[in-house]
Amino acid sequence: MSSRPPTATAPPAKGKPVTLSTLASKKALGEPIAMVTAYDHPSAQVADAADVDVVLVGDSAAMTVLGYPSTVPVSVDEMLMLTAAVRRGLERPLLVGDLPFGSYEATDEQAIATAQRFVKEAGCDAVKIERGGSSIARARAITGAGIPVMGHVGLTPQTAVALGGYRSQGRTADRALELAWDALELERAGCFSIVLEAIPSAVTELLVPRLGVPVIGIGAGPATDGQVLVFHDLLGIYDGHAARFVKRYTAVRDQMIAGVTAYVVDVRDRNYPGPEHGYEMAPDERDRFADLLAARVNAHNPT
Ligand code: KIV
Repeated sequence: MSSRPPTATAPPAKGKPVTLSTLASKKALGEPIAMVTAYDHPSAQVADAADVDVVLVGDSAAMTVLGYPSTVPVSVDEMLMLTAAVRRGLERPLLVGDLPFGSYEATDEQAIATAQRFVKEAGCDAVKIERGGSSIARARAITGAGIPVMGHVGLTPQTAVALGGYRSQGRTADRALELAWDALELERAGCFSIVLEAIPSAVTELLVPRLGVPVIGIGAGPATDGQVLVFHDLLGIYDGHAARFVKRYTAVRDQMIAGVTAYVVDVRDRNYPGPEHGYEMAPDERDRFADLLAARVNAHNPT
């Protein structure tokens, strides 16, 4: 065992696995819930080591790791592969899988079947769906089938075109009432938590006290029960447009480019690999190998 004292960078001690009751208790106790997205095994391990409470395999994966121009094209199979990799990297956080556009809206049966795949094939604890409207019935159907559902209202990227683009929502009283009503209906439909995205802080302040379930915000101000950020945004890995609400905690992309550039320079200057990166062979084996190789090559190329 190391005798070194813990440092500021030592990972926090792991607690018990996060459940729906853990989140409800945190809300009751006023303890903020920390949620991030993750899309692969190493990012899941990072989130776990950082003591995140909830990990969402968001369909933002479409843009952050798959290179699509929006969240719309990502398929269920693509999401399942990413989500299963995240599952293998998590111990403590609750794992939520985002049902992609077109995989749950049509019927209750479609929604239940897709949610079941996320639980059975990718090991999700819960799923997330976007919007109010017809999604309220889908949330009721999925929770009725025994799968916990997280709702998501405000800016819902899957239907951003219908919302007039990637812009904040609920800035008029009428529109704020619509999205607030969607959130309340999603709670009544059985959602265990609601994400509020890109809405005025004042709307959040008035809405959160009316919701009994934990509310997680992204661009919804400080009055929520927790916050979520996209992994690539908060670490500065993703080189795209960053929304107003994004806070970059570091610039990993710059460090990655610096690291790979240093490697390229080393290769071109023949500074890598060094002797310490190679494997050794006993001199007598080396000499015997040289003789064997020469004999074999000569036997196949008689002069
Ligand atoms: O897909 C996603 O990353 C999300 C979060 C921003 C909530 O839905």
